[in-house]
Amino acid sequence: MPNAAITGWGIALPEKILSNADLARMVETSDEWIVSRTGIRERRQVGPTDTTLSLSVKASQRAIAVAGIQPEDLDLVIVATTTPDMFMPATASLLQARLGNTRAGAFDVMAACSGFVYALNVATQFVRAGTSRTVLVVGADTLTRMIDFTDRGTCVLFGDGAGAVVLQATEAPVGVLSTVLGSDGRGAGHLFVPGWGSGIIPEEGTDTLIRPYMKMNGAEVFRFSVRIMGEVAVQAVEQAGLSLGSIDLLIPHQANIRIIDAAARRLDLPRERVWANLDQYGNTSAGSVPICLAEAAECGVLRPGMNIVLVAFGAGLSWGASVVRWGRDGVSNPAQP
Ligand code: ACO
Repeated sequence: MPNAAITGWGIALPEKILSNADLARMVETSDEWIVSRTGIRERRQVGPTDTTLSLSVKASQRAIAVAGIQPEDLDLVIVATTTPDMFMPATASLLQARLGNTRAGAFDVMAACSGFVYALNVATQFVRAGTSRTVLVVGADTLTRMIDFTDRGTCVLFGDGAGAVVLQATEAPVGVLSTVLGSDGRGAGHLFVPGWGSGIIPEEGTDTLIRPYMKMNGAEVFRFSVRIMGEVAVQAVEQAGLSLGSIDLLIPHQANIRIIDAAARRLDLPRERVWANLDQYGNTSAGSVPICLAEAAECGVLRPGMNIVLVAFGAGLSWGASVVRWGRDGVSNPAQP
């Protein structure tokens, strides 16, 4: 059965920086409160021309170049997003066209901030089954377009961004080694975006175009995430047949540094073996894990043979973790610088 190796990676972030000081001019908050409760100092925000699609295009073009393939080599394009440019068609189809591929299967996966880990594992199943040999997986969100900038409980947490990876089939023992996905829909009411979707029944004489702002019970989400991130990461390590001691790097969803620290403690990992960039980008939802992964790869931190744990949680409530062994052994096309 082939394995799915990560052979390319890319990041796209909007240029505009929204600092804690900027937010303190908009709502009653402070840099001190935000940094001490979350670890976030600034985040990126899309302007009038950037969208989830435009960020996905940039991140994907880089990932394709790094992998050393051509867009037409892609058999499958999957975009994990909760903020598609439009309801229909899928962002993956729009992306495929912008990349210049006219034949790959294309669809979106929606699992909120867990979305990239879900999509990575859907892609891996296609590769393992022999259905696809070359897959583009993108995690991209522009949640600042769904944030109420008068709600200090949510507006300080989120930023925009996209990360992309190319998966290629290989017979070598590298790539995605294990997967644990889960969801408990009883927690759906703790994190949701109302006012958008076919569940909204128009009432005669009312304006049904309600602005879709995110609603969150932060304390409940916090309690859940502190427990689930460590638990699911340990399960993924066990499923890969590895010991906790053999984990080289933890790449967690970037929601809150206190949640990340709790997961690291559960895995017994020191801070230097945990990737964190939420101080610069905040929570980019489905973009968070692939942005970290691509950043670590670009910095040269990831070396062949390293075991990396990806773990995320999000609305649903949902969660997912994977163990990835870094390397592109057995992949025939040459890597690009
Ligand atoms: N500035 C100042 N005060 C604030 C702010 C703010 N930005 N936001 C909330 N507060 C206030 C609240 O109103 C509350 O005040 P009250 O006690 O008078 O009612 C108080 O601060 C709450 O304080 P704490 O309990 O100390 O806050 P906590 O430590 O729980 O931190 C936080 C709040 C950061 C939201 C935390 O609960 C958290 O990170 N939760 C997880 C959220 C998350 O990760 N969501 C994303 C999920 S991923 C996805 O799918 C999108």
